[in-house]
Amino acid sequence: MKSNREINARTGLLGLLGHPVAHSVSPYLQNHLAAICGDDLRYLAFDIEDEEALEDAIWGAYAMGVKGFNVTVPYKKAVMDYLEQVEENALQIGAVNTLKREADGWYGYNTDMPGLIRALHYDKVQIEGKKVVLIGAGGAANAALCAVLEMGAAEVLVLNRTRTRAEQLAKRFIVKYPKSRIRTRGMDQDFVGCMRESGTDWIALQTTSVGMHPDVNGLAITEDDFYKLLTVGYDIIFNPAETAFMKKVEAAGGRAYNGLRMLLFQGIRSYEIWNGVQIGDEAAEELLQGMREQIGK
Ligand code: ATR
Repeated sequence: MKSNREINARTGLLGLLGHPVAHSVSPYLQNHLAAICGDDLRYLAFDIEDEEALEDAIWGAYAMGVKGFNVTVPYKKAVMDYLEQVEENALQIGAVNTLKREADGWYGYNTDMPGLIRALHYDKVQIEGKKVVLIGAGGAANAALCAVLEMGAAEVLVLNRTRTRAEQLAKRFIVKYPKSRIRTRGMDQDFVGCMRESGTDWIALQTTSVGMHPDVNGLAITEDDFYKLLTVGYDIIFNPAETAFMKKVEAAGGRAYNGLRMLLFQGIRSYEIWNGVQIGDEAAEELLQGMREQIGK
């Protein structure tokens, strides 16, 4: 892998705003992208204590000429108050994870959704015309639902521990995607029966944090009958590399993927927005190897 150019008086700054940020993989990813592209840029993680500090950081950074930011938990919504423009899919999802400096202020984007779309293409998971079950109805589910509807899923079942939250999420998308059938279920209901009505061959996207390190045995859904209906299981968790959910999917005969490619491609999309470039799959593959080693440390 190429090394970054030496810092000089013209080196551009990018960064991450969130709390906490100490374990983020984004600095690794973005600094290596800059090295691969030969761009004179550096990317740092900034731990922002609260929303008051967020406002100061955003305006201060603008005054200092910072070129862009990623925004992570818990500020993906709060940051929208400070933007000059927000792209349509970020408005639909209700969250911004990328800021780009423009002449008249910060512009906001959501790259979680295009990141997931590219990851699904990369892994050759076809969504168009398929049945998708979304596990969870939080922030991550929002971008995932938007992605699968954009990709033309025929049917989506939003399955959440709290059904009302699944309903609220579905409601935000039903009008915009009338061609897709969108249903909701609570985990205390007969969701397996509901899925069986439409047959087998389901694709599951696991969007909750259940199963994330150190809770490595955690499973949002334990029923074996659920896993038997899946051909593909996609987990947004990437640590551990093989989650309990993925093991269940594979034991039932399905293909399983972790969230590392989604993380990679959302970062790549941010870099593309900041720099007006396109990053090919070869560079993506190189970065992926490095990220695996980084997380394995
Ligand atoms: P994020 O923004 O990371 O998606 P979130 O908004 O807090 O985080 O959403 C977490 C999701 O994980 C929710 O769908 C949550 O279910 P509830 O809406 O019922 O809270 C789900 N979740 C969290 N812990 C869970 C558990 N032990 N079992 C099943 N679902 C769980």
